[in-house]
Amino acid sequence: MAKVTYLEDKEPHPRERRLIFKNVDRKGWNPSLKKYLSDGGYKELKAALKMEPGAVTEEVKKSGLRGRGGAGFPTGVKWGFIPPKNEKPVYLISNADESEPGTFKDRYILHQDPHQMLEGMAISCYAVGAHLAYVYIREEFPEAARIVEEAIAEARKNGFLGKNIQGSGFDLEIYVHRGAGAYICGEETGLIESLEGKRPYPRIKPPYFPAAMGLYMCPTIVNNVETLCHVKHVIAMGGEKYAAIGTPRNTGTRILCVSGDVRKPGYYEIEVGKMTMGELLNDVCGGPRKGRKFKAVIPGGSSAKIMRCHDSYKIKQGDKETEMTFYDLPLDFDTIAQAGSMAGSGGVIVMDDSRKMSWVLNNINQFYAHESCGQCTPCREGSTWMRKITDRLVAGTATPADLETLESVAYQIDGRTICAFGEACAWPVESMIAMFRDELLAETSEKNADLPSNPEEEAQRRYLQEA
Ligand SMILES: Cc1cc2nc3c(=O)[nH]c(=O)nc-3n(C[C@H](O)[C@H](O)[C@H](O)COP(=O)(O)O)c2cc1C
Ligand code: SF4
Repeated sequence: MAKVTYLEDKEPHPRERRLIFKNVDRKGWNPSLKKYLSDGGYKELKAALKMEPGAVTEEVKKSGLRGRGGAGFPTGVKWGFIPPKNEKPVYLISNADESEPGTFKDRYILHQDPHQMLEGMAISCYAVGAHLAYVYIREEFPEAARIVEEAIAEARKNGFLGKNIQGSGFDLEIYVHRGAGAYICGEETGLIESLEGKRPYPRIKPPYFPAAMGLYMCPTIVNNVETLCHVKHVIAMGGEKYAAIGTPRNTGTRILCVSGDVRKPGYYEIEVGKMTMGELLNDVCGGPRKGRKFKAVIPGGSSAKIMRCHDSYKIKQGDKETEMTFYDLPLDFDTIAQAGSMAGSGGVIVMDDSRKMSWVLNNINQFYAHESCGQCTPCREGSTWMRKITDRLVAGTATPADLETLESVAYQIDGRTICAFGEACAWPVESMIAMFRDELLAETSEKNADLPSNPEEEAQRRYLQEA
């Protein structure tokens, strides 16, 4: 087995509820099949193989499980889109690209508990009728790829993969596919293109919904690593019991990855909706750094809209509308959406009052300008244009009009692109200007209008003059 570093002294926080991360950094644990079996591993696969495939999907529907990759789409509903009788093969892909900045949960599953994911995949493949599945692992995780490859070989040797799994008559092969090293490879249709050996240009939806026209134009399910692990626990408990964890419509547990200006950054698995933002930041993560106050939070990875910590929100729960402070917001998909952002991939990025928002925004813009696949004009040109403006903002050479241009470019990307990367790069800009307009304006000056707009443009101007 490949060598893995554990943080064995890191006990889970008492407010956590660990299902998926039960074995992560667990004392004496290792990613071998022997260890996994000694802990009851593959029991749920054996149980699922005795059920009708449709009954497995029904349990997942009952569980209310929502995808943990970003959009929070109900997993059972997605599986239900696979045509029940079709001539073509069905594929399943575990999305292990984990490319959203601020998100660092899937890598721990791949490194420390790969059999949990493989078991979840095998159950899911059985449910949707797939006999071939892939783990698409981001290029930057070479160790994870090696560990998962070893786990697949072990599972195959012991009859948990391959032909006639556990005497059930069900056949399944799983392969690791190393990613192509780009953020857009995490977008499901870009990922599929990449898996087919092409550039990861996302496909337009409709018509290319993977469940209908996915890998090699065959029905394909793409699920996040964490989502697939939850499937095992749904089968262990039964859909209804699983649905009792968390809150209605936001069931189960999820792993939050907290980074930035808190005393105890890290990963925390919580019951969805049972913990508030204040409890997470102040109790679990130890509050702000000494002498500092929380200023802003990006709650679901870098593409989620930024939130101010002093704001309050009107949140509808059932028929009731309640006024809540930022700290009172329960951490679930629907509440964070009502508060104007998204719970996304669970990457909670915290900024305190030492942070300049121009710097934060420029950092985000640099990332998106670099990662745009370039297929559509608003995203390709707009992301770079936005980066150039925030480059000027941090350099102190921007004008107030630049801020207006920045905002207008973002709104012209939003909703006008092939894939959701367009929103991913526009939302941070739109929300940052809406929330911190005065702070950003204070860093601009009318006097800067006389300056060349940026060195590249100045060089181009001179070249044209001289030509
Ligand atoms: C630009 C972009 C990047 C994405 N990156 C990832 C990723 O790294 N991992 C992931 O699971 N989903 C990612 N997604 C979401 C996937 O397209 C897809 O919705 C998800 O894998 C579905 O899994 P789920 O239903 O289990 O959440 C990304 C989406 C976009 C638009
Ligand atoms: S929105 Fe951006 S990343 Fe998505 S297809 Fe268009 S150019 Fe590529």
